[in-house]
Amino acid sequence: MGKKVLILVSVLVFAAAVIYAVFFYEKREITPLTNSWDTPIPHQEVPQNLVSLKAEDCGVCHKEHYKEWKLATHAHAWTDLQFQAELKKESSPFMCINCHIPLQNQQEFIVTGLINGDIYQPVKEKNPHFDPILREEGITCASCHVRNGEIIGANGSELAPHPVKKAPAVLDESLCIGCHNANAVITPTLACTFETGDEWKAGPYFGEKNCISCHMQEVERPLVEGYQARKSHRHWFTGSGIPKFDTVQTTIQNGLEFYPRILTKTLSAKDSLNFEFMVKNENAGHRVPSGDPERFILTEISVINSKGAVFVKDTFRIGEEWEWYPEAKKISDNNMYPGEERTYALNAKLTQPGDYRVKIKVTKHRLNAKNAAYNKLGDNYPLFITIYDKEIPFAVK
Ligand code: HEC
Ligand code: HEC
Ligand code: HEC
Ligand code: HEC
Ligand code: HEC
Repeated sequence: MGKKVLILVSVLVFAAAVIYAVFFYEKREITPLTNSWDTPIPHQEVPQNLVSLKAEDCGVCHKEHYKEWKLATHAHAWTDLQFQAELKKESSPFMCINCHIPLQNQQEFIVTGLINGDIYQPVKEKNPHFDPILREEGITCASCHVRNGEIIGANGSELAPHPVKKAPAVLDESLCIGCHNANAVITPTLACTFETGDEWKAGPYFGEKNCISCHMQEVERPLVEGYQARKSHRHWFTGSGIPKFDTVQTTIQNGLEFYPRILTKTLSAKDSLNFEFMVKNENAGHRVPSGDPERFILTEISVINSKGAVFVKDTFRIGEEWEWYPEAKKISDNNMYPGEERTYALNAKLTQPGDYRVKIKVTKHRLNAKNAAYNKLGDNYPLFITIYDKEIPFAVK
């Protein structure tokens, strides 16, 4: 009896193994990587006469470029607390790192394909050339400047101790757009919607000004101390200016300009105050905000009396709103196009004579406090900066 059961069990196990092998193992196909962001920049050797690919080592000679780059969020694309928090989520697939640490030298594993095309099942092997210190540098000098053992430059200087390849097309706006424009639905709850490149191409600056002319301001200076001054570019990639860490300063650009207007300066108690606040995207070559859909701008307008009592208050938001579950879906989007104007109006009936003020405050936000708390970013992670803070006095007679 015991023997029969044993045989039966063995037969069943064998049958199950055969079925598994036929139906599942056979279907375990390795599919190649197809999207541009699926693969990093291939392994790079250190160019001749240099000691490493690290920014710090470029900075021994290119001191100013190095100091500026340290202020750029590019230098924090890996260490950023929000990035690290999101990367650790199960929903974040392998390719998240390819724009944040874009060189293979910065990556611990080499991904050679996907099992059955599943982005959550990459085929990985250890990268023998992985450099953990270079990884810390995020989008580092070598990400943009090193290819095939040479330093890529726009001018082809012959004075450099390292090999230089003149390749201005590698350093034009297509370099920026390669990372700053990714529009894809990756899974139902994971959509990539960075359209800064498309916004620029569709806008009035196309053919006039590009990513580099606005974000890497031109300056005349030596590239290395002791050399002659030439045309150079700031490397702080000035953007929204919202710092990544409270210890790091960034340089700020504002896309929006503000034009407050009180329609009458002195009111009688019978009138109501009509206040207008015009906002214009005057400086950005794309929409504001752009890129990350979590960004937003808040304008708070209030009327207060001399004692600080608030009579009317209104808040206006510029940004996108998304629903992520059960399916990533954009609910609304009132980001401002280049050149677009928008006017906010505030009316207040003030019956008491006296001195009043219209108070306006505009803040630019990286993400909201709820999502910051959800990602456990801590109390010192800067969520917003104030870009306009003004009080305009008026009187009611
Ligand atoms: C195609 C390139 C690309 C890929 C792939 C990519 N990112 Fe990014 N990421 C960017 C760019 C560009 C920015 C900056 C956007 C901006 O400031 O407008 C950014 C910014 C971020 C930020 C900071 C947002 C902020 O407000 O500062 C986080 C967090 C982030 N990415 C997480 C991820 C995660 C998680 C993944 C994988 C699901 C991912 N990224 C994949 C290009 C990419
Ligand atoms: C030992 C000093 C030294 C180091 C280290 C160094 N450079 Fe240079 N580099 C120079 C000099 C000198 C020039 C030429 C300056 C000139 O033409 O006025 C130069 C020129 C350049 C140029 C301009 C090329 C062109 O098209 O004209 C780039 C870009 C550049 N370096 C990037 C880098 C990067 C990136 C690193 C690190 C991986 C690096 N350099 C490391 C000294 C150095
Ligand atoms: C995100 C890409 C990017 C990164 C990162 C980057 N650069 Fe550049 N770099 C550029 C571009 C674009 C130019 C300008 C090309 C042109 O003249 O049109 C440039 C120009 C230069 C030049 C030539 C002179 C000048 O200022 O125009 C030097 C030298 C240089 N970079 C050094 C560095 C060093 C050193 C680092 C790291 C500390 C670095 N770069 C990081 C994109 C980058
Ligand atoms: C390898 C991918 C990559 C390339 C190439 C690249 N960027 Fe970025 N850029 C990023 C990522 C990722 C961030 C966000 C880093 C973070 O928030 O931690 C970023 C941030 C920025 C920001 C700051 C956004 C803010 O927070 O205000 C600006 C501005 C910017 N990039 C401009 C440029 C320009 C101009 C170029 C071309 C010269 C360029 N980038 C090339 C990936 C890239
Ligand atoms: C006409 C000048 C101009 C051009 C052209 C331009 N930008 Fe900007 N960009 C700005 C200004 C100004 C801001 C600041 C917007 C703000 O936060 O108020 C900005 C902000 C950004 C940000 C931060 C987004 C945010 O909402 O905080 C990124 C990323 C960026 N630019 C990338 C690019 C890229 C990539 C290109 C090329 C495709 C480009 N920019 C072309 C002027 C320009």
